[in-house]
Amino acid sequence: MSTDTNTGRDDNIRHHLTYRDLRDWIAEADRMGELRHVSGASWQSEIGMAAAIVCRDDDAPAVLFDEVPGCAKGFRVLVNLFGGGRKNMSLGFPAGLGKVELSDAFAAVFSDPAELIPPVEVDDGPVLENVMLGDEVDLDIFPTPLWHEKDGGRYIGTGSYNVTRDPDTGWVNLGCYRIMVKDRNTVGHNVLPGRHANDHNRKYTERGERMPMVMVVGGDPMTFFMAASSVPGGIGEYDVVGRMRGRPLEVVRGRVTGLPFPADAEIVLEGYVDRDRIEPEGPFGDWTGTYTEAGRINPVVDIKAVYPRNDPILLGFAPQCLPDEFSRFAAITHSAYLKRDIEAAGVPDVKAVWCHEVGGGRMLVAIAISQRYAGHAKQAGHAASMCGSAAGGNRWVIVTDDDIDVANLEELIYAALTRADPATSIDLITGAPGSVSDPRLAPSDREQRNFTNSRLIIDACRPYHWRDQFPEVNKPSPELAQLARQKFGHLVEGGAA
Ligand SMILES: Cc1cc2nc3c(=O)[nH]c(=O)nc-3n(C[C@H](O)[C@H](O)[C@H](O)COP(=O)(O)O)c2cc1C
Repeated sequence: MSTDTNTGRDDNIRHHLTYRDLRDWIAEADRMGELRHVSGASWQSEIGMAAAIVCRDDDAPAVLFDEVPGCAKGFRVLVNLFGGGRKNMSLGFPAGLGKVELSDAFAAVFSDPAELIPPVEVDDGPVLENVMLGDEVDLDIFPTPLWHEKDGGRYIGTGSYNVTRDPDTGWVNLGCYRIMVKDRNTVGHNVLPGRHANDHNRKYTERGERMPMVMVVGGDPMTFFMAASSVPGGIGEYDVVGRMRGRPLEVVRGRVTGLPFPADAEIVLEGYVDRDRIEPEGPFGDWTGTYTEAGRINPVVDIKAVYPRNDPILLGFAPQCLPDEFSRFAAITHSAYLKRDIEAAGVPDVKAVWCHEVGGGRMLVAIAISQRYAGHAKQAGHAASMCGSAAGGNRWVIVTDDDIDVANLEELIYAALTRADPATSIDLITGAPGSVSDPRLAPSDREQRNFTNSRLIIDACRPYHWRDQFPEVNKPSPELAQLARQKFGHLVEGGAA
């Protein structure tokens, strides 16, 4: 046990955020040797091309693009934030933790019942260094990339979040919803049904008012992460960020809407959702590794003010074909939420959960259990497939025994191949809540807005009733494996060369 110097909390693993704003984060990544600088890449194709390479590789560095042709020097774009050892640093954990440990450590801090820490309002901050109001608004000054060659436009909001307020209660919500530039003072955005911003918008519409909205398209990673996480309604993500930082977030109020945003944000857009202008948004290369349908219809946002810091940095987090940066992040956070949800559903002895990167952290879920009774595996599989955090967009669940490292895709498939009998170990569920981004939705279902899907649940545990007779795996025991590593590890280190 150790005590966190920031929060005074006792955590098994010390949690400590070493950065406040995005510039601190960049300095830290640089210090770790995990940042590269690239000058002169174009927003039209080259930043997107580079992102497509680095974001798919966990070992690749973060890249800061500057001197983008057509844009002022100093107007920068950061990509591949969530990779390498900086994943741990970004979430506030020590470098030595593997990805499953990181997920568990994140869960412990994220779900900590300790007091939330509300933001404090300040009068000034770097984000107010430049204020563009009304006719001065011009989104074309930013080096917004065309992320994928077939995107329907330039997406300024990928590592971004939208701030809205519930007009009845005053609760301020943050949600990450992608944002496409339509013209110099209009953006399209994509808020899916069920999102909190949608509830707020409905309430404003019922009052005959336009919903005020702020969009932070470059800012500190932790606030972005919390905006993209499933924080229950009524709880402000800014308060959760305060808890994660161990100190309140400093916010300023927008000149037009009065909505709060971080005083040290990089680029903020402020305006109103225009329900009278419902226009096509997309296509966009989405989290499933496929383009969304052309021209998803969404209300646009009229931008009335823009706040760029001096030398502002746009935060890019555009999905790529899977697995990618987006899915590395989703795997860490969704695995943590799903383990919590399965346990809350009453399933005992869940040893590990991994929402695989290749499934975007949703489509392929693996569970390791210590089997306690007949039917335990099936219970775990059905609960995992349908409970809160996996419900939207899950496709396959594989449940196996706790000797399998479920985060290792080859080990997982090996378990499924050797412990599951296709005729008797597989269940199908139909009509489950799917995702509008599902590439396998038939066009006719999409037209009827039938976004359900079917699910596969594979019981890849040793059959409970004769588990003691199941042939042993011929892997060395942990002791022998350690001895083998000590004596002969040098034979595999450095490969064949
Ligand atoms: C990088 C990233 C992009 C996302 N893009 C969208 C999006 O375009 N639309 C959407 O509705 N949800 C999107 N999500 C998911 C939501 O941000 C997430 O469900 C969040 O919890 C929503 O907040 P809310 O529950 O307060 O509405 C995205 C998540 C991430 C990590």
